[in-house]
Amino acid sequence: MSTTTETNQAAWLMSKQERPFKVDKAPQPAPEGRSIVIRNHAVAMNPVDFGIQTLGILWTTFPCILGSDVAGEIIALGPEVTRFKLGDRITGCVEDGGFQLYPSIHESVACILPSHLSYAQGCVLPLAICTAAVSIFHPRNLGLAPPKVVGEVERKGSVVLAWGASSSVGACGVQMLKAAGYEVAATAGGHNEAFCREIGVDYFFDYRSEDIVDQIVTALKDKPFAGVFAAIFMGDVLPKCTDIASQLGKDAASRVVATVLPESMPYKEPVQEGVRIAYYVWVNWLPAALEKGQMKCKPDPEVVGQGLESIQLAVDTIGAGVSAKKIVVELP
Ligand SMILES: NC(=O)c1ccc[n+]([C@@H]2O[C@H](COP(=O)([O-])OP(=O)(O)OC[C@H]3O[C@@H](n4cnc5c(N)ncnc54)[C@H](OP(=O)(O)O)[C@@H]3O)[C@@H](O)[C@H]2O)c1
Repeated sequence: MSTTTETNQAAWLMSKQERPFKVDKAPQPAPEGRSIVIRNHAVAMNPVDFGIQTLGILWTTFPCILGSDVAGEIIALGPEVTRFKLGDRITGCVEDGGFQLYPSIHESVACILPSHLSYAQGCVLPLAICTAAVSIFHPRNLGLAPPKVVGEVERKGSVVLAWGASSSVGACGVQMLKAAGYEVAATAGGHNEAFCREIGVDYFFDYRSEDIVDQIVTALKDKPFAGVFAAIFMGDVLPKCTDIASQLGKDAASRVVATVLPESMPYKEPVQEGVRIAYYVWVNWLPAALEKGQMKCKPDPEVVGQGLESIQLAVDTIGAGVSAKKIVVELP
């Protein structure tokens, strides 16, 4: 187990759009209620980290610590924690800053990392799982049946279209849809077909094809259709998804296009409900799914550096765009 004599440090965003991050001391979090504190060993980047630092969106209070996706070893437990013990290796979703050595995490969005998975692998999942779970299982989005562990999955007999399956959110969504018993049709760049097959995609389409809408409608027109999960919402994605859903869906429910939360959307109320859905996935499904290999840590991590000093490079790298990769910094 790690020693706590080490001083906490963070990569601070000192003011709006300032760069580089400043690596400096940070308060040592005290675990309260159902929170756990970990010695962080790997952090993954998300587009929102680039958006806040470089585009200056979403966040107004500085200095602050960005970062959501972490993996490490538990060094302190809040008094109400029931799911974990000191020394457990976990991955989880941080609300108040993952780019630090000792983040705290609510136990309901944390999960044991099986010994066959590294911290770098584990940290690719948390925020993408939460985001995809809300899109797919929230009753105001697709409202589909929840994922089940191996051996309990019941085939639903219908197909869902996942647009952008090689993205981080898309890869998590596809795997949860398969675990929920749906067939999955998916789009990604043609070079990522093998990646999509590996995570369980049944019908693959290259989103750059001129006639992508017709290809998908023709291939799926004789199948029961359960809706569209749009993991990417840029450019002409939503009009295409809506067109497909209106041609393939037989009723209002199957014509739904669920997308990732647009950054401008006020998210207080939906996320409060959404969090409950993420809890179900984290607590009831993910631990066994990771252990049995039903949920793979995809996209694979690309480790771009070691230590908090590498966070700036990592955020710049996600901002430049990735393809079926999760950008990770290890914190030895
Ligand atoms: N990451 C999160 O947890 C999170 C949370 C909330 C919201 N979001 C939002 O959700 C979206 C996805 O985030 P992410 O982190 O999953 O993204 P990402 O991993 O950075 O997405 C990269 C992927 O997007 C694919 N892509 C680009 N244009 C596409 C198109 N027109 N159609 C289909 N695929 C396309 C690329 O596919 P190819 O390389 O195969 O061409 C690439 O693999 C972003 O808008 C983000 O702001 C993400």
